Amino acid sequence: MLGRDLVRVLEGRGAEVAALRRTDLDITGRAAVRAALWHWPPDVVNCAAWTAVEDAEAHEADALLVNGRG
Ligand SMILES: NC(=O)c1ccc[n+]([C@@H]2O[C@H](COP(=O)([O-])OP(=O)(O)OC[C@H]3O[C@@H](n4cnc5c(N)ncnc54)[C@H](OP(=O)(O)O)[C@@H]3O)[C@@H](O)[C@H]2O)c1
Repeated sequence: MLGRDLVRVLEGRGAEVAALRRTDLDITGRAAVRAALWHWPPDVVNCAAWTAVEDAEAHEADALLVNGRG
């Protein structure tokens, strides 16, 4: 949701935007994230997150991996 809105606003301002889906880049993969940042040097904004709040309590480590390390 945030990502789609941000892309629309930035492209509306004439910015070049690399909008990556999970299938393009899993943000828990350190090497892949580094490679993406090299390929599309910042300004980069991460809009991906573990957003299922109740589910995060049952899967704390996974949620932390995405929202912390990711
Ligand atoms: N929505 C709001 O009003 C709002 C307000 C303030 C802050 N925020 C924050 O903005 C962030 C995004 O929220 P949102 O509402 O935009 O959530 P969202 O619509 O659920 O989007 C989250 C995105 O993260 C992706 N994602 C999850 N794990 C990933 C991974 N390991 N690698 C790559 N992509 C991954 C999801 O991909 P899949 O679709 O493939 O699962 C999804 O596209 C969160 O930190 C949230 O707390 C949101």
